[in-house]
Amino acid sequence: MTKNKMSLNEQNIVFIGFMGVGKTTIGEAVAKQLNRDFIDIDQAIEKEFQMPTTDIFKIHGEKVFREREKTLITEYCMSTGKVISVGGGAFLQEEIRTICMSHCIVIYLHLPWDAWKERLSLIIDSRPVLKGRTLEEMEELFYEREKIYASYHLKVETDQLTVDEITDHITELLKLTRN
Ligand code: S3P
Repeated sequence: MTKNKMSLNEQNIVFIGFMGVGKTTIGEAVAKQLNRDFIDIDQAIEKEFQMPTTDIFKIHGEKVFREREKTLITEYCMSTGKVISVGGGAFLQEEIRTICMSHCIVIYLHLPWDAWKERLSLIIDSRPVLKGRTLEEMEELFYEREKIYASYHLKVETDQLTVDEITDHITELLKLTRN
């Protein structure tokens, strides 16, 4: 499936997808079920800077955030057996796409726009990329971003499913890819 020679049991699993689709929640649940370490790259960056992402963007700028995002993802991709959730903008960087696709199993979590819209109020305050955008502009960004998520190994539709159902589905898919 991937170019990597490593056994699938050792390969990192990386979750990608648009903001608010549930990469952290599902990543954490999958890690628990597979008994693996879980790393959320946004949380790791926030911990380093000792501030939320919105403040990192405000004080240090998006460029600094993106650099740190690339360094941390690269480091974690070089390790083994982890479940890693990356921010929705990580795959904008070609180097990140390349390293994730060659070293990890990349799982794209997808929600249709109408279902995503319902979650907006839950995430708007903590996502600097959404700040100041109209709903139409967010929709444009949503479809624009779908293009960068075209690189993946597995795609999972999460609409209408509970976290447990999605987690079970993903672990089943992973078992199939091991056979
Ligand atoms: C971003 C997504 C966020 C976070 C940052 C930028 C983006 O992560 O990395 O606010 O550009 O899409 P989530 O996808 O976890 O919300």
